Amino acid sequence: MPPAENIEICLRYGTLQFGIPNSRYKGEKMIQTEEMEFAPRVIVPENIPEDGDIEVTLRPQTLHDYIGQEKVKEKIAIYIEAAKRRGEPLDHVLLYGPPGLGKTTLSAIIAHELGVNLRVTTGPAIEKPGDLVSLLTSLNDNDVLFIDEIHRLSRAVEEILYPALEDRVIDIIIGKGPSARSIRMDLKPFTLIGATTRAGQLSAPLRDRFGVIERLELYSKDNLTDIVRRSAMILGIPCETDGAAEIAGRARGTPRIANRLLKRVRDFADVMGNGQITQEIASIALSRLEIDALGLDSLDRRMLDMIIKGYGGGPVGLETLASAIGEESVTLEDVCEPFLMQLGFLGRTPRGRCATKLAYEHLGYAPPEQAAPPDTGQLSFNA
Ligand code: ADE
Repeated sequence: MPPAENIEICLRYGTLQFGIPNSRYKGEKMIQTEEMEFAPRVIVPENIPEDGDIEVTLRPQTLHDYIGQEKVKEKIAIYIEAAKRRGEPLDHVLLYGPPGLGKTTLSAIIAHELGVNLRVTTGPAIEKPGDLVSLLTSLNDNDVLFIDEIHRLSRAVEEILYPALEDRVIDIIIGKGPSARSIRMDLKPFTLIGATTRAGQLSAPLRDRFGVIERLELYSKDNLTDIVRRSAMILGIPCETDGAAEIAGRARGTPRIANRLLKRVRDFADVMGNGQITQEIASIALSRLEIDALGLDSLDRRMLDMIIKGYGGGPVGLETLASAIGEESVTLEDVCEPFLMQLGFLGRTPRGRCATKLAYEHLGYAPPEQAAPPDTGQLSFNA
């Protein structure tokens, strides 16, 4: 197995590292702006500064330690074993699904299980074709290159990627104008792992070049409970199973949120109790953070409230809704909607969003006769 140093973060996310693109919550610079109207949400699934190094500390290293996503894990274990037996690189892998579910973690595990190096970058960080060329040419045999937010690669960079993925070659243009010529360079065998929250935005030629395409699902409460217990053990936080389950039940199916809530609840346990996370302490702490019993926070509730009270239950267009509650539409679409749809609280129709009967009931309103039925079909990441 390669040592941990072999995991190299070669190009970081820049200012987008911590935030939702185009949202008011875009990393340190944005947090300091005066236009912040309310505290940053504790339940955003993207990586935020307060997460610090906790993700790295808690990241499982092997498929065995990775909890949940059983079907994906089973298949990937077979592909890894087959690739190792043949001494070949793993086929290129596309991982998609909502943020915070462990796409980066899974990629690091794949590299670790294959016994190769991992290079990590993101679509927007690869600005020029030359950036990708230098990444590709620096890989060793069977290494894994991980590109997060791969849907944000520019067209010019994508063009370099096609022959690299298909034939392990790159075409480099030397010179300019009439004297320019193209040189073909062979690459060492490698595996690309692309990750995206928006598989629908990937161009067809790029999508077709991945041999393995897997969707990560929101986690069950049981899986999240196990993740919280594991994290608490690693961090040395005394945590009862009921306490872990309370946190898990309000973490919107997302390990990153569960781990963040664990840290916040620990503060309450230290100050209000004897440091032990019990169900009661977790429940009090999460209510103080305005996260309700199902994991909805104030923005989720404002969104549903506006659909119900402002637009008679809907349908209402996403942009209209976003400006009515003073939030970015991308935040509603990427953060609130997948979860609200999973709960069966939100319907999406061609004419806009509708609150379902369950949403009315959860917010304490009497549902009208014609309230929309639950719709858990098409999730907003558009896969
Ligand atoms: N921490 C974050 N995601 C995890 C997972 N899927 N399994 C174990 N620990 C995790």
